[in-house]
Amino acid sequence: MLKTHSCGELRLENIGEEVTLAGWVNRSRDMGGVIFIDLRDRNGKTQVVVNSGDVPQSFELAQQVRSEYVLQVKGTVQKRPEGLDNPKLETGEIEVMVSEVNVLNPAKTPPFLIDRDEVVDESLRLKYRYLDLRRERMQRNLIIRHKAIKFIRDYLDERDFLEIETPILFKSTPEGARDYLVPSRVHPGKFYALPQSPQQLKQLLMVGGYERYFQIARCFRDEDLRADRQPEFTQLDMEMSFVERDDILDLIEGLVLGMVEHTSLVPAASDSIPRLSYAEAMARFGTDRPDIRYGLELVDLSDIAGASAFKVFTSNVAAGHPVKAICVPGCGDYSRKQIDELEKIAKDNGAKGLAWMALNPDSGEMRGFITKFFTVEQLIALTERLDAKPGDLLLFASDKKNVVAAVLGALRDEFGYRLGYKDKKELAFTWVIDFPLFEEDMEEGHWAPSHHMFTAPKREHIDLLDSDPGQVLSEQYDLVCNGYEVAGGSIRIHERPLQRKIMELIGFSIEEAKDQFGHMLEAFEYGAPPHGGIAPGIDRLVALMAGEPNIREVMAFPKTAQATDLMSDSPSFVAERQLNDLHIKLAEPQKK
Ligand code: AMO
Repeated sequence: MLKTHSCGELRLENIGEEVTLAGWVNRSRDMGGVIFIDLRDRNGKTQVVVNSGDVPQSFELAQQVRSEYVLQVKGTVQKRPEGLDNPKLETGEIEVMVSEVNVLNPAKTPPFLIDRDEVVDESLRLKYRYLDLRRERMQRNLIIRHKAIKFIRDYLDERDFLEIETPILFKSTPEGARDYLVPSRVHPGKFYALPQSPQQLKQLLMVGGYERYFQIARCFRDEDLRADRQPEFTQLDMEMSFVERDDILDLIEGLVLGMVEHTSLVPAASDSIPRLSYAEAMARFGTDRPDIRYGLELVDLSDIAGASAFKVFTSNVAAGHPVKAICVPGCGDYSRKQIDELEKIAKDNGAKGLAWMALNPDSGEMRGFITKFFTVEQLIALTERLDAKPGDLLLFASDKKNVVAAVLGALRDEFGYRLGYKDKKELAFTWVIDFPLFEEDMEEGHWAPSHHMFTAPKREHIDLLDSDPGQVLSEQYDLVCNGYEVAGGSIRIHERPLQRKIMELIGFSIEEAKDQFGHMLEAFEYGAPPHGGIAPGIDRLVALMAGEPNIREVMAFPKTAQATDLMSDSPSFVAERQLNDLHIKLAEPQKK
């Protein structure tokens, strides 16, 4: 080794030892006759002192080093002079008096400062990711990620799980996004698909008798990217045989809470994970991924509002649609302009307008256009139900159930930010269970699976598949944290006839089903055990544990929101010859 110690480990007990350190120049200060260099490596920083009187040659060399030069220094550990300790550094009580300096490599001036926690333009960070990775924040995040994955491996190994790899070059498994395709050279015109997840393969491993499988699995999805989505991401992919839903929920609860306890910078909000049905989550929070760190819940006022004289409400209630509201504390003094902003959010989420009432902070008197359509008794009844106080703002929505949920859910989210509820440093996990098997609206005459087509309907709902598929609930479960979906899974269908029936309902002809999933359908004829699984998204979980707003912060080499890699400039054009090998002709002329 070119070093005897790391830059983070020397302490008072090492005083007098001869050591060799190697690392990067974090900062160098020439005090005239003495140069102080903070030498940095992954483990920390150590101050080294080069004295012109003691080591004139090394001093001359040290005068030339700049930030990010790679150095090796030899010297003796000594206590820092009285009063010059640096309590911010773990090695701050000692320094190394240098006897020899070797420049292992010089460095150009970096495009941004490595040693300060300054805001740097993200595209610059991504272009020079190898420099960004030297910064404390990235190192801290990748260390959390490593510890989380190690915890997962240990936890599952202790519980008799096997880690098994599955292929990256495989066949399309629909998870709702577009596939990344890989053309075959040896089979002209044919393509592999990169896995959107190893869903089929893990189910086939259950048919293969492995009972408890997991994999830290790469998944690829060509979809519209958001802060919590990347084209290439990592799941803890799992599957178990002979289990019921609660076995999986209990196992994951122990795993996630244990992992948070051992690796997270942000603590868990509670030592168990509550369970909400999909219907309850939608009714109370307006979303199936609620942030339960705060209240601001949706309250049903259909009975009171339906008896008012406000036409929009009465006609909606008569048509069976709800009137609901949220009560926002302390925002009763909002101006017309501020209300217009809220109305825009409501409209962006499908509302035709935004009805509101505000309670005067002193008198409690109510203002807002719709107030006059309510009797005093009705106003009292609705403020009581909303637990509204003077100074509060009441925001109403009335439309189809799903529009009301979307509108008030979005406003609730907005006020989560505005009122600082989302700044609360805790991880509030919740399970969402009992999802509908299918999305509410049919597409082109077919039902779309709410999770994926291998998810089992609840046993007691199987008969409804013929009479009323929209009412069928499934064995799907999601784990949600602070408003993000962090895991999704389900108990699967393991009988071929049922799988066939679901495929028909979602519009697969027998030929299509055979072509795409023939191997699955066939496997199910050879004694598939009852099974189920789940896949927590590692990137999102680690981002939450590191207190980061974006999953790019916990990935070593992420892509931009446009799915590009700025460092290597990919995707990129390829040579004509490569395209020819792959039997590919580009339809569009290549544009620069
Ligand atoms: P699902 O599609 O719900 O389930 O994905 C599981 C979890 O993976 C994470 N995730 C993503 N993370 C980053 N970027 C993305 N583009 C992305 N897409 C998904 C989310 C999500 O909760 N095969 C099923 C699991 C199963 O049924 O066992 C599946 O993939 O955190």
